[in-house]
Amino acid sequence: MAQKFHVTTFGCQMNVHDSERMRGMLASLGYEEASERGEADLILFNTCSIRESADSRFIAHLGEAKRLKGEDPQRIVGVGGCWAQSVKEEVFERFPFVDVAFGPGQIHKLAEFLNSDSISAQGYFEFEDFSGHLPTRREREFQGWLQISQGCNCACSYCIVPSTRGREVSRDPGELIAEAEALAADGVREVTLLGQNVNSYGRDLPPAGRIGFSELLRRVDAIEGIDRIRYTSPHPKDMKEDVIRVHAELPALCEQIHLPLQSGSSAVLKRMRRTYDRERYMDRVALIREHVPDCAITTDIIVGFPGETERDFEETLEVAEEVGYDGAFTFLFSPRRETEAATMEGQLPHPVKVERLQRLVEVVQRRAAERAQRFVGRTMEVLVEGTSRTDETRLRGRTRHGKAVNFDGVAEAGELVGVEIESATSQTLGGVAVKPLASLL
Ligand code: 5AD
Ligand code: SF4
Repeated sequence: MAQKFHVTTFGCQMNVHDSERMRGMLASLGYEEASERGEADLILFNTCSIRESADSRFIAHLGEAKRLKGEDPQRIVGVGGCWAQSVKEEVFERFPFVDVAFGPGQIHKLAEFLNSDSISAQGYFEFEDFSGHLPTRREREFQGWLQISQGCNCACSYCIVPSTRGREVSRDPGELIAEAEALAADGVREVTLLGQNVNSYGRDLPPAGRIGFSELLRRVDAIEGIDRIRYTSPHPKDMKEDVIRVHAELPALCEQIHLPLQSGSSAVLKRMRRTYDRERYMDRVALIREHVPDCAITTDIIVGFPGETERDFEETLEVAEEVGYDGAFTFLFSPRRETEAATMEGQLPHPVKVERLQRLVEVVQRRAAERAQRFVGRTMEVLVEGTSRTDETRLRGRTRHGKAVNFDGVAEAGELVGVEIESATSQTLGGVAVKPLASLL
C-alpha cells in the first residue's frame, strides 16, 4: 500500500505555495495524501514565525504529532518553513521526535531526506535554489502561484523574516516567464506573483537581461490564457509610478494593490525602519487613485509598537479613515526573537494594545463597508471558485478587486462570469449571475 502524507500549513501565501510543491513532489515519489493526520506515515508542518501566536498554534499541533509518533515510531515527522528556520538545529533538542527539518522553500531537501537511508534526524537550513522545477499539486487548477524572489533586504525592526528567509534573491526572468507559460498551458487563468518585497524584483540580477517589476508584469500579462494577475507583497518605498501605471494599462493586472501601512505615525514608522513617512505613503495612495481610480487598496497595520503614544495611534486611525481601505489585516505588535523592536524601550501593556486594535478594526470595517457600496448595481467580472461556504445553493467567487462574492447562478469553478452586485458588506458582496461574460464585454 502507498505511503501516506499529511501536511498542515501556517502563515502566508508563500507557504501555501510551498505546501503545493510538497504535495506535488510527494505525489511524484508515490505518496498519497491522507485526509487526517492520524492516517499518515509522513506528518509535515509548514510553519510560520511572524507573530508569537503563529508559533504557539503550531506547537499545539506538534503535540499531536508526538503522540502519533509514540503510537507508531515508524512515522516520520517533518517541520519546514520559517519557524523551523528561526530555531534551526534547536528544533531537534526541543522536539526530539522530529525527524527532518528544513527552511522555507527547501522542499527538495525533504525529498533528499526521504530518498536517503538516513536514520538520524536531519536539518537543512541553507537556501540553495528555488523549487520552481518541482511539480506542484494546485489546490485549484485555475489558480497558480509564481515565486519571483526569495528573502528580503529590508530591515524592518519588528520583522523576523530577513533572518528566516535571508537576503533577497530574484529569479531569472526567462525562467519565470517559462514557468508562467507552463501554468497557463496547464489551465491557470489567475496567477499570483509572490515575494517578500515583490516590487524590488530584479535589482540583484546581473545587469545583462535584468528587468524590473513592471516589465515582469508586462511579460506575464502578454501570456495567452492568463486573465488575472495579482501580486503580494509590495513595499510602499518601492511603489514607483511605473508599477502603478501598468495597473491602468495591462488588461490582466487586477485593480487591487496591497500596500502595507504598518503605522500612520511618521515617528513610529521611523522606529520601524520602514523608510517612508505618513506623507510619502499618502502620496502613493494619491498616485494610485489618480491612475486607477477604482483600485481596491488593502493593507497590513501593526498596533502597539514599542513607544506608540495615543497620538501616534490616532494618526494610524486618521490614515485608515482617509484612505478608506477595502480591507486590512490588523495585528497586535508581537516581540520576535532577535529583532530590534523586541528589546526597544516602551513596550506596551497587552490591554492597551487590545483596546487600540478594537478601535482600529471598527474604523477599518466601517470604511470597508462604505467603500464596498460602490460596487452595488454594477456588473462585476467574477472568477468562480465553487459553492458558497455558507449556502450550498449559491456560488462563490472573487472579483478582480479581490472581493469575495456569493451569488445565484449556474457556472463551473474556473469560469469567468458577470455578476450583478445587489448587496455589499465590509467583507463580501452578494449578487446574481447575468448573461455569459463575453456578451458584456
Ligand atoms: N508583530 C506583529 N505583526 C507583525 N507583522 C510582521 N511582524 C510582526 C510583529 N513582530 C505583520 C506586518 C506584516 C504582516 C505580514 O505581519 O503587518 O506586513
Ligand atoms: Fe510566516 Fe513570514 Fe514566513 Fe510567511 S514569510 S511563513 S508570514 S514568517
